[in-house]
Amino acid sequence: MNSPVLHAHGLVKSFGSTRALAGIDLEVASGESVAIMGASGSGKTTLLHVLAGITRPDAGRVIFTPAVGTPVEVSALGEGARSRLRRESFGFVFQQGLLIPELTAIENVALAAMITGVSRAEATQRAARWLAALGLQGMEDRRIGELSGGQAQRVAIARAQITGAGVVFADEPTGALDSTTSSEVMDALLWSTTGQGRTLVVVTHDPQVAARCSRTIAVRDGRVQGAGVTA
Ligand SMILES: Nc1ncnc2c1ncn2[C@@H]1O[C@H](COP(=O)(O)OP(=O)(O)OP(=O)(O)O)[C@@H](O)[C@H]1O
Ligand SMILES: [Mg+2]
Repeated sequence: MNSPVLHAHGLVKSFGSTRALAGIDLEVASGESVAIMGASGSGKTTLLHVLAGITRPDAGRVIFTPAVGTPVEVSALGEGARSRLRRESFGFVFQQGLLIPELTAIENVALAAMITGVSRAEATQRAARWLAALGLQGMEDRRIGELSGGQAQRVAIARAQITGAGVVFADEPTGALDSTTSSEVMDALLWSTTGQGRTLVVVTHDPQVAARCSRTIAVRDGRVQGAGVTA
């Protein structure tokens, strides 16, 4: 295994009396693609959010080791520092894209770079390159509602890449797509992450999506089952 980019130890998270994570240990190596699978309510999204510093665990630690620089204990950072880490070091793709409907495809992508301090001109240029690389040339100026589900997900993928994030977190990125479109979106997601030496952590219910990743982690009742299969 390459050096771990994410290292989680003893993660526990409860919501009221619901124990979403019941003690999770996990390592994600740099450049691998990891699928997280499990029944509805098993804790997948909670795990993704804790790994990505969206949610703070009640106990346990998450250490992120960037390609350059010193390891960061994500779970110990305050709100502002975690928010900055997410903007600068992580990319996100969710089931419904969470794109801004009032903005065009290119504006949605460029915005992610602009909020990290990149100028509008530079951000727009980079956004155009990512959209073209993901097969969306000619659709830059369409609003999100004028794109198909698969096209909108590729805009979300471009947005997750534009800051050069080392780790991309995706939660059911193909959950709303038919199987052909789902396969195309996975092509785009894998090409733009592991294909560029980046790391992908993807929550999915779809065995075909998981099969394309280098490893699957099964979660059940807030715990990891077995050791994770390496393809
Ligand atoms: N913000 C919250 N407030 C209260 N309970 C929550 C919250 N988030 C998650 N839970 C509970 O924690 C448990 C794990 O939820 P989680 O969203 O991680 O499941 P999941 O595996 O992603 O499920 P699905 O496949 O349906 O998306 C569930 O019982 C859920 O109801
Ligand atoms: Mg979920």
